[in-house]
Amino acid sequence: MNKRPKGMVIAIDGPAGVGKSSVGRTIASRLGYSFLNTGQMYRALAWKAIKEGTDVSDESEIARMAGRIKWNFKKISGPAIKISVDGNVLDKELSDEEVGKVSSAVAKMPQVRKFMCSMQRRIGGCGGIVMEGRDIGSNVFPDAEVKIYLDASARARAKRRKMQLLKSGLGADYSRILEFITARDKQDTLRRHNPLVRTKDSFYIDTTKLSKKEVIAKIFRILRNINVKVRNNSARKAAF
Ligand code: C5P
Repeated sequence: MNKRPKGMVIAIDGPAGVGKSSVGRTIASRLGYSFLNTGQMYRALAWKAIKEGTDVSDESEIARMAGRIKWNFKKISGPAIKISVDGNVLDKELSDEEVGKVSSAVAKMPQVRKFMCSMQRRIGGCGGIVMEGRDIGSNVFPDAEVKIYLDASARARAKRRKMQLLKSGLGADYSRILEFITARDKQDTLRRHNPLVRTKDSFYIDTTKLSKKEVIAKIFRILRNINVKVRNNSARKAAF
């Protein structure tokens, strides 16, 4: 296992819409760690490809573009690492539906995955980071000190997504959302290169019937069992 003097790597993997980001950000914030949502990196590349009108089925072209981009990863406020691409700090544009679709296409490309994986290793190499995605514990950091696999039924995830959309005043069609989530699960698990898998050494948490607070409490219990020093008292409370 790597020696990571400044803290551990906590890998969180799981299917789309399971709450990895929201849980991961809270865990990172309580530990004083950084937080990286690696899906945003694939989305950022997709955003750039759309903006430049690059052929998104041309793997060599997309990989070349990834190499040409001036990537920047910085914490602006809070634990989340923000991604900037050629000087554009990306945020809301990454939630765009088209960006999401193209990101799935580029995430299948082995050359792109190799490139992203090496950036992710560089970002997390010193530890003190919660990193979430699909292949963090299985591929990016197979030696991560803690691996969490979050899961929930497709129906539960679709229901949560519907509630989120309604809360933001947007329309939400449950069957369409469920269809979308099921399709994403298929893409993620059947992908040839670095598919979503649950590794044997990961802690499995089925969140179907759990609140965010309960999931976080479970993770802190796991961390406590492996002797993590939690920085503040509120985290301690959640753990005990
Ligand atoms: O999680 P999110 O939907 O933002 O991810 C965008 C795309 O990147 C998805 O298609 C997802 O499968 C892919 N991805 C990946 N590996 C990761 C993180 C995300 O292939 N570590």
